[in-house]
Amino acid sequence: MSIKVSDFLYRVSNTYFIQYLQEIFDIDLDEMREIQKDFLSQMKRGLQGKESPLKMLVTYAHMPDGNERGSFIALDLGGTNLRILLVELQGAGKVRMVKEKRVTIHKRHTRGKAAKLFGFIARSIEDFMRECRIKPYMKINIGFTFSFPVKQLAINRGKLMHWTKDFAITEEEGLDVVELLNCALTKRNLHNLKVAALLNDTVGTLVTRGYSEHDCDAGMILGTGTNACYIEKPSNITKAHIKGLKKKGMIVNIEWGNFDKLRLTEYDRAIDKESGNIGMQLLEKTVSGKYLGEIVRVTLKDLARRKFIFSLYPQSRPFDKPGTFNAEYLSRIEADSSSDLKQVASVFKEIGAAPTVLAERRLVKNTCGIISRRAARIIASVLTAVIFKMDPYFLKRHVVAVDGSLYEKHPFFSAHILEAMRELLGKRADKITLELTKDGSGKGAAIVAAISTG
Ligand code: GLC
Repeated sequence: MSIKVSDFLYRVSNTYFIQYLQEIFDIDLDEMREIQKDFLSQMKRGLQGKESPLKMLVTYAHMPDGNERGSFIALDLGGTNLRILLVELQGAGKVRMVKEKRVTIHKRHTRGKAAKLFGFIARSIEDFMRECRIKPYMKINIGFTFSFPVKQLAINRGKLMHWTKDFAITEEEGLDVVELLNCALTKRNLHNLKVAALLNDTVGTLVTRGYSEHDCDAGMILGTGTNACYIEKPSNITKAHIKGLKKKGMIVNIEWGNFDKLRLTEYDRAIDKESGNIGMQLLEKTVSGKYLGEIVRVTLKDLARRKFIFSLYPQSRPFDKPGTFNAEYLSRIEADSSSDLKQVASVFKEIGAAPTVLAERRLVKNTCGIISRRAARIIASVLTAVIFKMDPYFLKRHVVAVDGSLYEKHPFFSAHILEAMRELLGKRADKITLELTKDGSGKGAAIVAAISTG
């Protein structure tokens, strides 16, 4: 079989380039250990109130015992949707979702004044109450999952530190989120509703699994954003402003998305530069669903510029515009096991890209794999640091409750995390179980509301 010189050159340079990508995105065992060590020391600094990229936020939330009961409204404001749920806790670890409403958060809600966003939330709750036929005299407590960094002062009081996930509300620091919501509810005459608990989505995920599983001591989100929480001994929390904690284990929201001791590639830097919060949330920008697709996009843009893809259609530039490639495409491409990579072709068609030949599609699939594997290895490094923090000698079993579309939908993300944890911990990794815990931010809000009013 003869091969054209141009094809030959393409294959050689293509191989070199993929090796280059592999090198810059690879995180070997030494680097994972380094990340783990840095992360652990930053966790300690954060708990002591020293300067640290990790906020280590005290949540005033404790673990449930499984016997909490009652009906609650759960509100979940995460990033892409607002969800309102009527949840019934039946005790003995059982939760019933009575009704759910999902409302899209449009970009216009994430810009401008906070009162506008909260007015929209209260309006949506009013509609929901009508749909559920909840009468104005029926008193009901709300558990509010608000998945942004909040400095909590009590279980039902918390000040927003700053917005993440591309929310660009004009007033920032110091907004009391519960006060804002209560105010918006009062304006709509919803006097029968009271916000009993404010919590992060990681906390909701942890308590939801913890409601029925006693070994659960950490919660992790791998979705639009990424973050984790865990149970800390109150005596280890020595920040000056935290006083009078009970003896019971306290759930701490790490806000790990802001960890910044990571080696970034030129592609990560490009994403950071295009973001609305340059230099912040750097771990989130290398790992989470909101940014993973973007890293692939800028890398593919570079591949196109170097004529490794669209070699027959050099004028095709579908990756120039931010947001054209998302994490769902990434999952579909990586899951494609057809011999001619049909899914890759179909994703490209959806994006409006020019046709590709098989070698180009292979390159795209490899690129996606390299980038998502790195993300999973970063997560394994920091998650094992969290387990070390709780149990340095691995004396007990640890269940980590996990929620989020990236973890759920990506074909290899969880396997990559487990593989990397094994590299880091050897047999001790068997003591850690990752459990997909769907809808923790809904059910968990009801559970925390029940604990706080019980
Ligand atoms: C962002 C938020 C954090 C949240 C995470 C997952 O990192 O700052 O509070 O838990 O996204 O939704």
